[in-house]
Amino acid sequence: MLHCSAGDLNAAGTNIVLMTEKPSDSNASADSTRTAGGVEDRIEADGSPESFDSLEYEVVTPPVLVIGAGAAGARVAIELAESGVEPLVIGKREHGDAHTTWAAGGVNAALGSLDPEDDWTVHTADTLTEGHHLNDPAAVELMARAMPDRIRELADWGMPFDRTDDGDIDQRYFGAQSYRRTCFVGDRTGEAMLDTLIGRVRELEVPHRENVMITRLLSDGDRVDGAIGFDMEAGTGLLFRTNHVVLAAGGFSALYHRHSSREDENNGDAQALALEAGARLMDLEFVQFHPTGMVGDRYGEEWDGRLVTEAVRGEGGRLYNADGERFMERYSPDQMELDARDVVARAIAREVREGRGTEEGGVYLDITHRDAEYVRERLPSMVERFESLGVDITAESMTVAPTAHYTMGGVDIDFRTGETGVEGLYAVGETVAGVHGANRLGGNSLAETVAIGQRVGDHVASVVTETDVDPDVTDGQRALAEREFRALRALAASDGSVSPTRLLSDLGELLWDHAGILRDEAGLRDGLTELESLRARTTDLRVDGGLTSKSFEYAVDLSMALVVAEAMLRAAIERTESRGAHYRTDVPETESDWRMNLVLAADTEGVSISRRGVADPSPPVREALNEGYELDYHHLE
Ligand code: FUM
Repeated sequence: MLHCSAGDLNAAGTNIVLMTEKPSDSNASADSTRTAGGVEDRIEADGSPESFDSLEYEVVTPPVLVIGAGAAGARVAIELAESGVEPLVIGKREHGDAHTTWAAGGVNAALGSLDPEDDWTVHTADTLTEGHHLNDPAAVELMARAMPDRIRELADWGMPFDRTDDGDIDQRYFGAQSYRRTCFVGDRTGEAMLDTLIGRVRELEVPHRENVMITRLLSDGDRVDGAIGFDMEAGTGLLFRTNHVVLAAGGFSALYHRHSSREDENNGDAQALALEAGARLMDLEFVQFHPTGMVGDRYGEEWDGRLVTEAVRGEGGRLYNADGERFMERYSPDQMELDARDVVARAIAREVREGRGTEEGGVYLDITHRDAEYVRERLPSMVERFESLGVDITAESMTVAPTAHYTMGGVDIDFRTGETGVEGLYAVGETVAGVHGANRLGGNSLAETVAIGQRVGDHVASVVTETDVDPDVTDGQRALAEREFRALRALAASDGSVSPTRLLSDLGELLWDHAGILRDEAGLRDGLTELESLRARTTDLRVDGGLTSKSFEYAVDLSMALVVAEAMLRAAIERTESRGAHYRTDVPETESDWRMNLVLAADTEGVSISRRGVADPSPPVREALNEGYELDYHHLE
């Protein structure tokens, strides 16, 4: 096994540097200053003694650095370790605590436990149909073919899937899927999957570090040589020098005012880091609004936007407006509540806009027609959560409204390898674009993490060589890192009057209002103008509590968020049609000419956008598409 030293901070290959001198590269200021204004809005460092103060930092030299310790990062790490390469996995939170734990309802694999007609071709066809044919068909095929094995492997590693009476892995209906294909552990599938993967990571003794935030990749635009960040607890700098970096750091749905993530994740770090390092982004205009987020004073602010799992509808849950009407009959008489998420979310938005919503601006989700014991058994977390809020969902309905949940867009990769086009930089999971197209099927996000994660791990393991172990650190690399550390210190010392949380919250409102479920060109352009004003306010930023504070973390988040928000608004303006989750009220039709991905790259002007055609599916998948499979909701009744 190729051993890295990073898991043990005192081992060889890790050293601590005390930077007390003036910058190693005294011309560094203009390019190095991290402002909350983002990549395109750098300002000169003030050069004050304060910002050049002493700063301790560690140098860590693993053969592979995996940024992100959710399901995708963990699966990559497992594959590497099993192939004899020992990566270092870093995460912003405690090991085992990542956004994956919030994925609830299930993970897709055409096992055919209950519906033997299901197979990988139908899984691929469903995914392409609901992705409105903007998905990379080869990537979807790869995932669908791999998933049965990935599920069996998870079961072997101890994932406690719900089982049928015959002992097979049980499967439930999920939105817009032709068959019962979603494997589950009650309604805590993500948590169980992450526990299982982290258990395996621990078994393999893969080194990890917690509470690490990466602020910049060490890149010259053509290749990545590592990453720079800080230890969020100690407030010290970290220079990771490595020839292979895997980005598995999530998406950007938490930029929205109402969202289903925790406040401090899915802020677009991964996409901003990749763009800045020279990688391309794709499909940023496609943001998934999950139809059923919690809403209303009754549940409290803390729960606003949090997910009521699709499994509630998969188990028969029904949606009613404030007039008691089962309104999906009007929008989707065949697929009803289990139509694709974009369709159901738009239907709810329309009910509310046309005055048929509840006082809280939502609709009712009701599963009281099901036997109470059945509901308790299949949806234990939902029952428990609502019980803690004084609501018995076996006897009364929940109030729900759409919430930003997932971003289909992200880093443009080659799915066979995870390569980004920047040498040494790979990406995987919600960080990337391509599998889900214009709208993701529920249960396919967890599937992608393990199916593609295994592939990426396998590829990276195959290219790591002895010379990648404990790589040298050049003076130039140190200089770049030290510039970044000084910039971070300067950011931490910001003493203006506006807090990062205020600006993040204003950004969230801006995106919700201008780039939400329904958008149009005028609104998107207004959004860009408002974004410029918001960016201008970052010159008056105040960070309270220094390098180890939440305030500082949010200031760094803000710097990334602004980059991604601008790119997303620009992409949404560029796509002059409606497709999947991108619904433009000024151009409501889907245009066949627009079966193209929008690819974004950083350039001297900011970001450039180009169009790229989508490949055709393979013959067996075309055949499945021609069969016209679709979910027949009435099987559920
Ligand atoms: O509703 C849910 O349980 C979400 C699942 C998913 O986004 O895949």
